[in-house]
Amino acid sequence: MYFDDRPKERREDLYDREREIKDILSLIDENRPLIVITGIRRLGKTSLLRVALNEAGREYVIVDLRGINPRSKRDLILRFQYGINESLRKFSRIKDYLKFVEGVEIAGLRVKLSWKSPETLYEVLSSLQERGVVIAIDEVQDARGPVGKELASAIAHFYDYGSSTVILTGSQVGLLYDFLGVENPRAPLYGRVWHEVKLERFSREESIEFLKLGFSQVNLTPPGWFLEEAVETLDGIVGWLVKLGVIAMREGFTRQVITRMLEESSKLVLEELNSFLAKRGRAREKYMELLRAIAQGKDTWDELKETLGVGDSSLAKLLDNLAKASFIEKVGGRYRIQDPVLKFSLLSRWP
Ligand SMILES: Nc1ncnc2c1ncn2[C@@H]1O[C@H](COP(=O)(O)OP(=O)(O)O)[C@@H](O)[C@H]1O
Ligand SMILES: [Mg+2]
Repeated sequence: MYFDDRPKERREDLYDREREIKDILSLIDENRPLIVITGIRRLGKTSLLRVALNEAGREYVIVDLRGINPRSKRDLILRFQYGINESLRKFSRIKDYLKFVEGVEIAGLRVKLSWKSPETLYEVLSSLQERGVVIAIDEVQDARGPVGKELASAIAHFYDYGSSTVILTGSQVGLLYDFLGVENPRAPLYGRVWHEVKLERFSREESIEFLKLGFSQVNLTPPGWFLEEAVETLDGIVGWLVKLGVIAMREGFTRQVITRMLEESSKLVLEELNSFLAKRGRAREKYMELLRAIAQGKDTWDELKETLGVGDSSLAKLLDNLAKASFIEKVGGRYRIQDPVLKFSLLSRWP
């Protein structure tokens, strides 16, 4: 069933993404060391990852770093511990691979990782990769600073000596590239080759088909105007189409349903924006002003510069940070807000 808010696990619940699944499966088969799944929030990275791993016929561990305390080594280790324990439900043998590893304690059906020993992460990753376990790290860019660097070093080690695959995903695509050290020779992963699987928005036709199929799975037939309006508003972002589907299943096909979906989702995107702004100190206001201006259509360099009254280098820096976090993108010389729901919230909450 498509209209379920949680990340998908089974192929039959996933609309399309055939090519992406095929690519990931063959890269895993070939033991390519590093696969990177990119795409803005809610395009289905986690779902793609889980469905592909379910089909890969390999043991795997998924570590979710979304919202990790970016500078806490302890949190990083706890996330690995949680991921490993989750995978033990399916692959209990993994416990045996970790039996004699420094910093790992086995307690019944669970493992406990020590966060005090600096070697734990390396040791755990090495033992897993020796046995061909695939390691997936979701929203990896959320680990930053020294913790991010340590993680990147452990992945680099895995890359150089491994006989298995690491899969990384990231919604904040520019920050993910920073994590990979694309332009930074001093970064641990600099110079490693990776394969990128890029998720894009659905086209207009795909979005319409997706909604029709999703509703037909629950024996509903949406009117044409509803489909048109939904697709117009939600710009091919599957997570939002699903959310709309869930609400419409409950409340029927009315205009208010679309508005309600936008309002309910606004809270979520504003929280995401807030966690970005919380780290920006006094620049916070400038970022908000900039985003609002772009949402209102003042979207060229000159217009933005005039609206904000800042110099070239400040404006470049603000735009660059927003782009790295995938809040905005530049298309044909104009900036635009990537997420239609964020645009809606920027226009409605701060007139
Ligand atoms: N191809 C797809 N078919 C059906 N539902 C999908 C698909 N991709 C994602 N979803 C749904 O969209 C929402 C966001 O997906 P998720 O995998 O969490 O995206 P991301 O990890 O990119 O933020 C979830 O509700 C998920 O069930
Ligand atoms: Mg995700």
